[in-house]
Amino acid sequence: MDRFVINGGARLKGKIRIDGAKNAALPIMAAALLSDGPNVIHGVPDLADVRFMGEVLGDVGARVTRDPNGDLHLSVDDEADSHAKYDRVRKMRASVCVLGPLLAKRKRARVSLPGGCQIGPRPIDLHLRGLKALGAEIELDGGDIIATCKKLRGAHIFLGGPFGSTVLGTANVMMAATLAEGRTVIESAACEPEVEDLADYLNAMGARISGAGTPRLTIDGVDKLRGAEHHVIPDRIEAGTFLVAAAITNGELTLQNCRLEHLMAVVDRLQNIGVQIDQEGGDVVVSSSRRLEPTDVTTQPFPGFPTDLQAQLMTLLCLADGNSVITEKIYPDRFMHVAELMRMGANIRREGPTAVVTGVKRLIGAPVMASDLRASAALVLAGLVARGATVIQRVYHIDRGYEAIEAKLASVGADITRVSD
Ligand code: EPZ
Repeated sequence: MDRFVINGGARLKGKIRIDGAKNAALPIMAAALLSDGPNVIHGVPDLADVRFMGEVLGDVGARVTRDPNGDLHLSVDDEADSHAKYDRVRKMRASVCVLGPLLAKRKRARVSLPGGCQIGPRPIDLHLRGLKALGAEIELDGGDIIATCKKLRGAHIFLGGPFGSTVLGTANVMMAATLAEGRTVIESAACEPEVEDLADYLNAMGARISGAGTPRLTIDGVDKLRGAEHHVIPDRIEAGTFLVAAAITNGELTLQNCRLEHLMAVVDRLQNIGVQIDQEGGDVVVSSSRRLEPTDVTTQPFPGFPTDLQAQLMTLLCLADGNSVITEKIYPDRFMHVAELMRMGANIRREGPTAVVTGVKRLIGAPVMASDLRASAALVLAGLVARGATVIQRVYHIDRGYEAIEAKLASVGADITRVSD
C-alpha cells in the first residue's frame, strides 16, 4: 500500500493543468452502453475509478480501451450478460449508473444494490422511483436489483429527495428516458455541470434532451442512439482542491483548463476570506499572501458549495483567524477528516452535521490515515502547510479521484513523495 510523505512549508508557485472530470466521465462511460456504434471520449483522467468502470462495463459486454493519445474508445460487443455484480459495485458506487442504460437498451438489468460507504448511507430509492415511473418493474433478489420492462414510456417525474436533487439518480433516469417512448419530464433534476455534460454527450449520440443544467429536464425518446465523440468537462473538484492548495501555502498557482462558472460558490467563499482569484485569458490565477478570515459555509447541490470540497475548505479554515462554521447538508456524516486534522493540531468541534472550526496558528505534521477520497485530499492540503513531516497512509483513496496529485504538487514546489511498501 502506498503512502505520501509531505514536508510542509513550501509556497506553491507555477502552472497546473486540470484534468477531465471524474464524475462526468463515469456516467458518460456507462451511457456508451446505450449506443449502437463506437464512441470516443477525450479528456478522461487515468484514475482507479475510471479503470474500475471499464471493468464493470467489460462484465456487461462492452469493450473499453485507451489509445496512446489517452482517448477512451468504447463499444458494445455483446449484450447477453447484463449483471453488474456485488464485487464490483461494492468497490465503486458509481457502477450503479449502468442500471438506466442496461434497462433502456436491453430491457433487463441486474445490478447489485450498493451498500453504504465511508461518507454515510447512500440510498438509491430515487433512481428506482424514476425508473419505475418510466414503466420498469423492480424487484430485489440476493442483494441485487432486478429491473425489467417490456417498453419504457415517457412520464412526468419528480426526482427530489430529502437532501435535494440526486446527481447519479438524474443521470440514470435521463439515460433510460432517451430510449423511452414519448416525452419524459424530470422535475427537481440535478443541475450539476456533470449532468449537463452527460446530456451533451447523449445529444451527440442522437438523444433529444433539453433543459440540462436546470431543475427541469425534458427528454423526447428516440428509437436508437449512435456512437459519438465527446470531450469531458474539466474537473471542478480537482480545480477547487488546487485553489485551496495555493491559498493554504500563501502561494500563487495558474490553473489551466479550469472553468470558474462551475466554481462560483467556491470562488465566492474563498474571495470572502481573502483569497485572490482572477481569470486571466483562458487561465485562472489564484494567490494568497496573508492570514485568512473565517467564514460560514453550507454544502448544497449545484450551484451551491459542493460537498466534495467541504473537507478541503475545512483544512484551510483550520488556519483562519477566528471561528468558522461548516454545515454539511448533503452527507451529514461526511466528517472522517475531522479526527485526522485534529491529530495535526486543528481545533474543530463537531455537532451533528455542523463543525465549528477555530483557527490555530499552525498545523503540525503527523502520521494520518486517508479514509475517503476528499478527506484524503484535505489531509494532503494539511500536510503541505504543516510544520514537519506528514505521512498519509492508504493513498489509494486519493488515486480514485486525482491523477498523479503528488507529481502535480511537486511540479509547483511541494515536497511530497509517494512511498510504496
Ligand atoms: C455524486 O454522487 C458524486 N459521485 C459524489 O461525488 C458527490 O458527493 C454527490 O454526487 C453529491 O454532489 C459521482 O458523481 C460519481 P446524490 P451521487 O445522489 O449521485 C441522497 C466524490 O467524492 N439520495 O446526488 O451518488 C443522498 O443520500 C463523490 O467524487 C437519496 O436520498 O449523490 C445524498 O444525501 C462522493 N436517494 C443526496 O441525495 C437517492 O436515491 C445527494 O446524493 C439518491 C440520493
